[in-house]
Amino acid sequence: MEEAIGKLLESASRDISQCGNDLRELDQVRVRYLGRKGDLAQLFKQLGSASADDRPRLGKLLNEAKEEIESLLAGAVEEGKDRLLEGRREVDVSVPGRRPLQGRLHPITQTALEIGRIFSNLGFETVEGPEVELDYYNFEALNIPRDHPARDMQDTFYISEDVVLRTHTSPIQVRVMEKRNPPIRIIAPGRTYRCDSDVTHTPMFHQVEGLMVEKNISFGDLKGILTVFVHQMFGPHVGLRFRPSFFPFTEPSAEVDMQCVMCKGKGCRVCSHTGWLEILGSGMVDPEVFKMVGYDPEVVTGFAFGMGIERIAMLKFGIDDLRLFYENDLRFLRQF
Ligand code: DAH
Repeated sequence: MEEAIGKLLESASRDISQCGNDLRELDQVRVRYLGRKGDLAQLFKQLGSASADDRPRLGKLLNEAKEEIESLLAGAVEEGKDRLLEGRREVDVSVPGRRPLQGRLHPITQTALEIGRIFSNLGFETVEGPEVELDYYNFEALNIPRDHPARDMQDTFYISEDVVLRTHTSPIQVRVMEKRNPPIRIIAPGRTYRCDSDVTHTPMFHQVEGLMVEKNISFGDLKGILTVFVHQMFGPHVGLRFRPSFFPFTEPSAEVDMQCVMCKGKGCRVCSHTGWLEILGSGMVDPEVFKMVGYDPEVVTGFAFGMGIERIAMLKFGIDDLRLFYENDLRFLRQF
């Protein structure tokens, strides 16, 4: 009998701890051991057939076992209830708050805005034009007729014979001049498209176009405005040079180089050891373009320029791989 009581205690405490504070399982254990027909009740019944000498001692043992099991059960049930409550406590006002993710502007957008800000201070208004453009505005009105070899310079995405994805932001010049009369000072940022894809070219990229038309605008104005721009964008001590070039819509034309930002003009890999980096195309608006929009080239003159925003952003932020702009890797984007 003593042995049976010991075993019962042992197995009860094992069963209780195996319930893992599950209240329903604990109740089953309670019924099994303490119920009216439970294991303990069976032993109490056997007490009647014990000898009168043994009975008090065994009765005391049984009672102690019962109390022991009851208190083990009570403890486990208490813990089970606590856990249940914990799960339900959904709002803990003492937990520190979670900071919402803060977005930021893409480096290309930041660069476009910075260019816009500099020209805005020079009196230029920002305008936009369509990305799906008529062949007429993208080429024809810019003095690039259908059979002109200059069309080969730009690998155009044609949507139909007359409709293209604009290959540059220059068509916006024409659209603005068609609608307004001089004086005009605009810059026009936006997406541009060329069928070209390698390490230094993406099929979609960004340009900013600039146009200034009034009476008596000279090449000196072009040099002055673009010099102010480069100095504000890259610092007042950056050297500049205006190199003769050709564009169908400007005459004369010049490409603008600035001193390499990486090596300060000493020559390095970035500038192909020339010390110079080409950053934009520009020139005096060709009289043919003025005629197309109904301006009299004998009365007004003007200059225009166009630059790639990716290139400016790479030089400004010291980025050496164009593709980083389009991979949307947050580790890259969060640096700006
Ligand atoms: N549209 C030219 C290009 O995409 C850039 C350009 C050159 C724009 C000279 C101009 C300009 O307005 O005057 O390569």
